Amino acid sequence: MVHGLKKINKEAFDILVILSKLAHKKGARLYLIGGSVRDIILGTNSNIDLDIVVEDDAISFAEHAASHFKCEIKKHETFRTATVFVPNHKVDFATARNEEYKKPGALPTVSVSHLKDDMARRDFTINTMAVDLNEKTFGELIDICGGQKDLKSKVLRALHDASFTDDATRILRGIRFENRFGFKFESHTLKLAKDAIKKRALLNIHPHRLYDEMKLILDEPDPVKCLKRVDDICGFDFLSNEIKFDKDDVLLLRRIAKVLKTYRAKILDKRKITEWLVYFSVLTYKLPKRTLSSMLKLYGFKKGEELILLSINKHLKAMAKLKKLSTPSKIFKILDLFSYEAILFFLAYYYEDKNIAGNIQLFLEELSGIKVMVRGSDLIRLNIVPVRIYGKLLEALLYAKIDKRLKDKSAEISEIMKIYKKLGIQ
Ligand code: CTP
Repeated sequence: MVHGLKKINKEAFDILVILSKLAHKKGARLYLIGGSVRDIILGTNSNIDLDIVVEDDAISFAEHAASHFKCEIKKHETFRTATVFVPNHKVDFATARNEEYKKPGALPTVSVSHLKDDMARRDFTINTMAVDLNEKTFGELIDICGGQKDLKSKVLRALHDASFTDDATRILRGIRFENRFGFKFESHTLKLAKDAIKKRALLNIHPHRLYDEMKLILDEPDPVKCLKRVDDICGFDFLSNEIKFDKDDVLLLRRIAKVLKTYRAKILDKRKITEWLVYFSVLTYKLPKRTLSSMLKLYGFKKGEELILLSINKHLKAMAKLKKLSTPSKIFKILDLFSYEAILFFLAYYYEDKNIAGNIQLFLEELSGIKVMVRGSDLIRLNIVPVRIYGKLLEALLYAKIDKRLKDKSAEISEIMKIYKKLGIQ
């Protein structure tokens, strides 16, 4: 049995055993393959998604499995694949297939085949290994491309010379694996990658796929290193030839990493930060607005992501006004309009300016958490009219609370009465 298979999550192991039995009854042949096997051997993943190759029709086997587990199934007829959602585990079934890339960068044409061909169509040797799930040979490793050897020597080796011209996203995938596992492109493979870039292979890829890859890259453990590597190997012309990435941007990336590390936990109780976007802004904050807007549309950024990136691009320079502000409420009024992603970017950008950075930190650490205790019901009890001014009154109270550090509800009530009197409505 493959070393490590027994150590995977017990639930996942039991699913594999059940699938093996179902396949035996149906006369289908099953293999666990790809990233799952790589991770099992590396011992890096205990809660794996399972990728299974079926030497038979994957969709009909997946339907059988879904009815056994009584769970949902999603089928993709074109690629003859299906996903079965067993509780806590996503199981992907693919018909063993040959792939032919009719045009560089286009999605491949698929034909039914055997395990060996299915292995040969993959990106790197480390992702070709399979674990036999057939009853008699259950758990045996099938490694015909030398994946285990490359895994041991920590190298990424392409299976054939056309691998990156067929699908240039594999270069970005390779950069991810380098970062995640501390691997290196083997020298001929790196040359193939650079040659493919020279032939502008990334420009043949659908922009939405490039968006997905960038997001994945920036979710790896060290996004700064990843982006530097993308810059070294590919540059960023595949996103926009107006992106100018320089030494200062590397420093900015490092500061972003530092700022995220400090504030991740502190802000998490309020909202989860989309960290990859903060890193991505380093590529976009200097772009002309129109270039950025059309790039975001083309690559399929989500509406919220678009707003964050555009707001950083538009308001970054204006944040210099945070240098000289007389009251904390003024800082609050400026920064409260922005997402935490934008605010953290501003902080990293102005990190060396003690006044600006200090004011942003004051906002993050104190001001953003200040809330008024007085409610609309309190205002009714105090006979404050008309009701339509309540919003404005409570907002004025919040600013007063921020500036005067009002401690309790009674201090807030006397403050709101003062504000109300000043309005001269009674
Ligand atoms: N694959 C490929 N070329 C690609 C994408 C995927 O050859 N452009 C193959 C690889 O063999 C990979 C498998 O399909 O192992 C599954 O792809 P995916 O789930 O995207 O990748 P993983 O290797 O599992 O990587 P990760 O751990 O990042 O999900």
